[in-house]
Amino acid sequence: MFTSATRELPEVRPVPRHVAIIMDGNGRWAKKRFLPRVAGHVKGVETVREVVRACIEQGIEYLTLFAFSSENWRRPAEEVSRLMQLFVSALENEVKKLKRNGVRLKVIGDLTRFSPELQTLIRAAEAATADNTRLVLTIAANYGGRWDIVHAMNQLAAQKPEAAGQWTEADLEPRLAMSYAPEPDLFIRTGGEERISNFLLWQLAYSEFYFTETLWPAFDADALKEAIASYQRRERRFGRTSEQLDGKETSQ
Ligand code: IPE
Ligand code: IPE
Ligand code: MG
Repeated sequence: MFTSATRELPEVRPVPRHVAIIMDGNGRWAKKRFLPRVAGHVKGVETVREVVRACIEQGIEYLTLFAFSSENWRRPAEEVSRLMQLFVSALENEVKKLKRNGVRLKVIGDLTRFSPELQTLIRAAEAATADNTRLVLTIAANYGGRWDIVHAMNQLAAQKPEAAGQWTEADLEPRLAMSYAPEPDLFIRTGGEERISNFLLWQLAYSEFYFTETLWPAFDADALKEAIASYQRRERRFGRTSEQLDGKETSQ
């Protein structure tokens, strides 16, 4: 089990252990170039490759990428279908490389809405990389933070009905989709919007937020370094005062 920011004081390291990213701005990147939106998504996959490499170099242990939200089904059918095709081809093309580079792939979200072909590919990719330990790469697909919490609650109701009314955070956490990872230290959203869009609602409780205007297809290793530099200037207090952190006053 990992430290919960609300129940214990997490260890703060100079390099974030877990970075979670909303990869936003693909459509605008393409539009600026008079290209179809899907061209932005294609370029976005290249960015994923570069950022995975950069995370390994920086010593980041967990990288979580929001690829498709539970609300993205509202997009035009043509775009949704192209995104699904891209997901399939990325899985087909990248898994060997991930395996070679020590990356463990995990996919979180309600996968039941995906085609059986895609679900099989996802399970196979997870199985093929299950023993890797260098970086855990999580793709959030048909993921929603509210879905995650309700899903965990329903499991709890089925598994511990006798404790209803006394359930605690510690009961819920192991049933959340990312129970295999520590909470994100750093949350990044590219593309200029400053919102969570139903990403990891529970897990971001004490994460540091970093927003950049840079559109996802233009985000690169240097942009990641900038985000980490910003993170390193933050004071993570978890409810305490600055004086307590400086050691001038003791904590409870
Ligand atoms: C993010 O880029 C990718 C997905 C949501 C799949 P967008 O497609 O949202 O790009 P913008 O926000 O329209 O520029
Ligand atoms: C959030 O991006 C989801 C992903 C990046 C996958 P959107 O571009 O869909 O978010 P909203 O709808 O603008 O908030
Ligand atoms: Mg967007």
